[in-house]
Amino acid sequence: MNKPKVLVTRRWPQAVEARMAANFDVDLNPADKPLTEADFREAMTRYDAILPTVTDRLPATVFAAGTPRTRILANYGVGFSHIDTQAARARGIAVTNTPDVLSECTADIAMTLMLMVARRAGEGERELREGRWTGWRPTHLIGTKVSGATLGIIGFGRIGQAMAQRAHFGFGMKILVQNRSAVAAEVLARYNAVQVPTIEDLLPQCDFVSLHCPGGAANRHLINARRLDLMKPTAFLINTARGEVVDEHALAQSLWFGTIAGAGLDVFEREPAIPDALLHADNLVLLPHLGSATRETREAMGFRVLENLTAFFEGREPQDRVA
Ligand code: DGY
Repeated sequence: MNKPKVLVTRRWPQAVEARMAANFDVDLNPADKPLTEADFREAMTRYDAILPTVTDRLPATVFAAGTPRTRILANYGVGFSHIDTQAARARGIAVTNTPDVLSECTADIAMTLMLMVARRAGEGERELREGRWTGWRPTHLIGTKVSGATLGIIGFGRIGQAMAQRAHFGFGMKILVQNRSAVAAEVLARYNAVQVPTIEDLLPQCDFVSLHCPGGAANRHLINARRLDLMKPTAFLINTARGEVVDEHALAQSLWFGTIAGAGLDVFEREPAIPDALLHADNLVLLPHLGSATRETREAMGFRVLENLTAFFEGREPQDRVA
């Protein structure tokens, strides 16, 4: 039997590309050049499977023409708001993602951002590298204590819980949770966490707020000017979820006018573009979407795609089917 024809849209870790090439009739992307919408439309007619990732855009228009050859989009990443899953489903195309394997590293990056912004690590490093450090003094770059503070977690799935694990056991933080559905009592008890009904209830009580909800239209600008105003002026916002969850214009205003103390962002609305007002805010730590960027995790994500793909073409239900 012919091997399924598979397109990988970006460069992947070498170990995964090698296994992929052994198991499938695969076209890799050695130049790592992002595909255009037109490339995707064409690919739909030539490949049995396409393996996109967060930098690819697959809106309804990609699925519009003709009868697709593609039967599965096996996404490399947990978030899939860049794929119009309704349109895919309407054309009979399955969609999978890669949950679990990146929860720990993404929570590690959220902790990194929280510590960096609270302890002014970015400002300190800039000062030192630019030769502006004049030496130790009692009033130099005074930050905010993280240990024992209250952390609000919005979205209490796997990554939110990994964040609670670190914050509760590592830093003795008090954990408040806001989640669309009720979180099981034993899960909350694990972190001594309390679930509150709404984001409005959560924000005014927190020293730190970390976002771990999905992106997409439903959560676009979930954190807007009105909600930023509910945060304490001494509080910090951390986003490792999706850029569109935060209204960047409103956040820039809050940072510049000091209505919150600071923020840490790993994701942006129009990546890789960052608004100037954010780039120049000193009370903001910015990272270039590094949540899952460890060798271990990026390989695990690739192998998880392989598992989903293998199951699909062997006629089994892929474990991570989302559409
Ligand atoms: C994801 O998986 O959705 C990340 O944003 C990329 O690791």
